[in-house]
Amino acid sequence: MVATGLSSAIGQALVARLGQHWTIVALGRTFPGDGVHWLPVDLRKPPAAWLSAVRERLVADYGHVEAFIHLAGVVYSDRTESTTLDEWESTMAVNLASGFHLGAMLSPLLSPGASVVLVGSVDARHASQDGPAAAYGAAKAGLFGLVRHWAAEWGERGIRVNGVAPGAILTGNGPADDKVRERLQSRISLGRLGYPEEVAAVIAFLLSPDASYVTGSWLSVDGGLNIRY
Ligand SMILES: NC(=O)c1ccc[n+]([C@@H]2O[C@H](COP(=O)([O-])OP(=O)(O)OC[C@H]3O[C@@H](n4cnc5c(N)ncnc54)[C@H](OP(=O)(O)O)[C@@H]3O)[C@@H](O)[C@H]2O)c1
Repeated sequence: MVATGLSSAIGQALVARLGQHWTIVALGRTFPGDGVHWLPVDLRKPPAAWLSAVRERLVADYGHVEAFIHLAGVVYSDRTESTTLDEWESTMAVNLASGFHLGAMLSPLLSPGASVVLVGSVDARHASQDGPAAAYGAAKAGLFGLVRHWAAEWGERGIRVNGVAPGAILTGNGPADDKVRERLQSRISLGRLGYPEEVAAVIAFLLSPDASYVTGSWLSVDGGLNIRY
């Protein structure tokens, strides 16, 4: 499995869940912990700076890939007028463009039956009352398109492509402010924020044979937040 974003809380939950059964290659700036093969990569940098080196390592060390998870993400909660060019470019590079370039590079290495999971956000389809993040929403919405197009392109090879859209998850990036948290909780049907393990469980399902007839789908993991966001 090749994955980005494994140093995040959701990534750590995923490693805890899948580490015993999968060989995991992590792409990112931070070492995500023991039991994972780490290839240091800064996804903000242009793909020309890292993509072929990653490919060479994967081909030499593994030959084929059975799963790709794009979990890396970055968000700047700015109004559109105050979003800097650097923030826009970082948001697009980490959330969307690197996922596209990695998918294109990995495609010939994906085995028949492989599973691809892209991690979006409730913000792809809904503007939050708690802070504008148009660039982030646009980047995550781009992942929606990738899922559907890749599912169509790669389905004939038996490759499944799906997305997971978390809502408010208790990670380092969760709401710091108690009032924001209370407001959010009041809009979540299940009345609470989610745990990283609950997102990891859905990603694990999409990787598993239990999801053998699921492709081109987006699963919300948000306790019902998107119903009245
Ligand atoms: N937390 C939530 O409530 C929530 C809600 C909806 C969606 N999500 C999505 O879930 C994912 C994880 O979220 P999180 O809140 O747990 O995020 P986080 O703690 O901020 O982690 C972000 C992850 O992205 C990676 N990343 C960021 N910039 C990178 C760069 N330049 N190069 C390589 N990797 C980079 C980080 O890796 P390094 O440590 O290597 O930089 C890290 O693993 C993201 O895609 C996020 O959009 C989260």
